[in-house]
Amino acid sequence: MAKKTEDITLVIGHTFPDHTLHHFPEMNLERIYMDYNATTPMEPKVIEAVSEALQDAWGNPSSNHIAGAMAKAIINQSRQSVAKMVGGKAEDIIFTSGGTEANNLVLHTAVEHFRKISRSAEQGEGHQNGCSGLPHIITTNVEHDSIKITAQHLEMEGKADVTFVPVSKVTARVEVDDIVAAVRPNTCLITVMTANNETGVIMPVQEICQRIKSLNKQRERLKILTHTDAAQALGKIPVDVQELGVDYLTIVGHKFYAPRVGALYANGPGKRTPIYPLLFGGGQERDFRAGTENTPMIAGLGKAAELVTSNLSEYQSHMQSIKLYLEERLTGVFQDKVRFNSHYPGSDTLPNTCNVSIMGPALQGWRVLSNCRRLLASVGAACHSDRVNRPSHILLSSGIPTEVAANAIRLSVGRGTTKADVDAVVEDLRETVQLLEEMN
Ligand SMILES: Cc1ncc(COP(=O)(O)O)c(C=O)c1O
Repeated sequence: MAKKTEDITLVIGHTFPDHTLHHFPEMNLERIYMDYNATTPMEPKVIEAVSEALQDAWGNPSSNHIAGAMAKAIINQSRQSVAKMVGGKAEDIIFTSGGTEANNLVLHTAVEHFRKISRSAEQGEGHQNGCSGLPHIITTNVEHDSIKITAQHLEMEGKADVTFVPVSKVTARVEVDDIVAAVRPNTCLITVMTANNETGVIMPVQEICQRIKSLNKQRERLKILTHTDAAQALGKIPVDVQELGVDYLTIVGHKFYAPRVGALYANGPGKRTPIYPLLFGGGQERDFRAGTENTPMIAGLGKAAELVTSNLSEYQSHMQSIKLYLEERLTGVFQDKVRFNSHYPGSDTLPNTCNVSIMGPALQGWRVLSNCRRLLASVGAACHSDRVNRPSHILLSSGIPTEVAANAIRLSVGRGTTKADVDAVVEDLRETVQLLEEMN
């Protein structure tokens, strides 16, 4: 009998002690989690760091006594660990509630910075270097909603012009030349994600930054700022702010086995790189982000960053081999019914992301997933889970035909996913597909 979706709702909310399996005694079923791009569980060492901070570092980090000092020391240690993970300095890290806030902070900063430069140009030195009119932001058409909707909101409010550069329908990557061609005199920010959350495609951020750096040399007043949202890349591939050459980089804890907290890297915030706060208050985070720091979660972020710094190549090669095995098994079982929406000629992809469609009239991704007995995955970004029965705009923009995109399932593996998990998932999919084909 087809399984009801409510069962899945029941399972979500339980913990997955070994990160992949959950025993569901009433049904004698173990659920297998392959939705690590949506969120990751916390590593045991991260949970330990969070728990210790909850116990021992509950003081207000701004207090001038021992309780405050303990909390402050933990925050400073985490700041160093997070900075090391991305190749920056401790003072470049601003802790935030998560990725959405970090992305909003960057867009807001770029617009405010443009305004400030425009005002000073008006006051003294004329409208040189294109500082009158609206600030212009360049991004891609496959960004996370925390960039896309924020940019659209700025446009709607008449606060900025935005160019959404389409990615190539062949490589699913944004072309460097297309980004450079979109530059206008008023361009104040270019924001391009490091890797896409649905296709796993890695974007040419380094090349974009190199080109913009030489353009900036010819621009006297308004330098173009560069940002990358590295939410999906951290903990999966090497990410280094010096190599990328970005001014800002978004860090999202819950994608690399840390809790739901985040950070923004800014290259010399307030000095070399502007930051205009979204939140005002008690002066925390050097006035860039007011609000008493969430010490335990920041402690967890720091520990998770340490684990990435020490073990990245191991994580990467494990996920890569499991993903390859998964693709082989899917191809073996479904043969010419299989289409991979995470394979693009000439594009590198994340080691853990397998976006697959199993072709057939009744095999839409949401339908397959809601009938799977063991697999926990999604059809795309978790924030679109209310739109599961519409093909993903990311896949359509990446050149995937509508009928293929409609059947897409995003399988994202994690550090603890085993070949046995893959075997069980592929068997689950085989049974589900057979059932749906019989019912059709
Ligand atoms: C690419 C990308 N950017 C930003 C975010 C948002 O991060 P947060 O959930 O911490 O707000 C996500 C998370 O889904 C993401 O995948």
